[in-house]
Amino acid sequence: MRFDVLTLFPEIFAGYLGQGLLKRAIERQLIDVYVHDIREWSTDARHKKVDDRPFGGGPGMVLMAEPVVASVEAARAQQADPGHLVMLTPQGRRFDQRVVEELAANERILLLCGRYEGFDERVRLILRPDEISIGDFVLNGGEVAAMAVIDAVIRLVPQVLGDEQSSGDDSFSGPRRWLEFAQYTRPREYRGLEVPPILLSGDHGAIARWREQDALRRTNLRRPDLIDGRQAETEGGERQETERDSQ
Ligand code: ADE
Repeated sequence: MRFDVLTLFPEIFAGYLGQGLLKRAIERQLIDVYVHDIREWSTDARHKKVDDRPFGGGPGMVLMAEPVVASVEAARAQQADPGHLVMLTPQGRRFDQRVVEELAANERILLLCGRYEGFDERVRLILRPDEISIGDFVLNGGEVAAMAVIDAVIRLVPQVLGDEQSSGDDSFSGPRRWLEFAQYTRPREYRGLEVPPILLSGDHGAIARWREQDALRRTNLRRPDLIDGRQAETEGGERQETERDSQ
């Protein structure tokens, strides 16, 4: 799987790409990540300017359509597969595990990161990207969001996780998409807190049942919306009292 990141700050990615799971996946040639500097497509040879003041006035700077569109088109042209173009923006559809699964079906993903007050609207109109937001908050740019997308998607690329790891038990994954059950490791007792005895029993059936119950219990408590689509909060923002909460 190939990722192409388009950014004004390519240096941000070096540290992240050089660590852990991602580094190993790149070394094993399971994934490729190419980082492109949008500034290289600036039409202003002297100052490499890529942004300008907004028409109509107002604070901040807007990324110009020309260098952004040119950088995406140049990156796309590097391979026969034009790839799936994602634009990271707080105005996009909300990123969740279902979107991760959808994105993981692509052989190639391009991630377009914005800065400043955003992109000239014609970038969207011309490129028609899949606009994605990682949450209802505003970041200083799309770079951290792009890393979150890569990080989540590569977990679903075959062989990236070792044999012992699996994304099947992860929260939001598997057929039910509940939160994951509690995990324990040595020691058996720590500051008076004991590991649930069933986990030490060696009875795999009983352990599986305990984990299923624990996953259901925590999901009910923390994220009831994951179980039946019920909202955790009312429209007024107050926590809804339900029978289930008091169980
Ligand atoms: N850029 C700025 N804020 C963002 C967000 N919440 N998600 C994705 N990209 C962004």
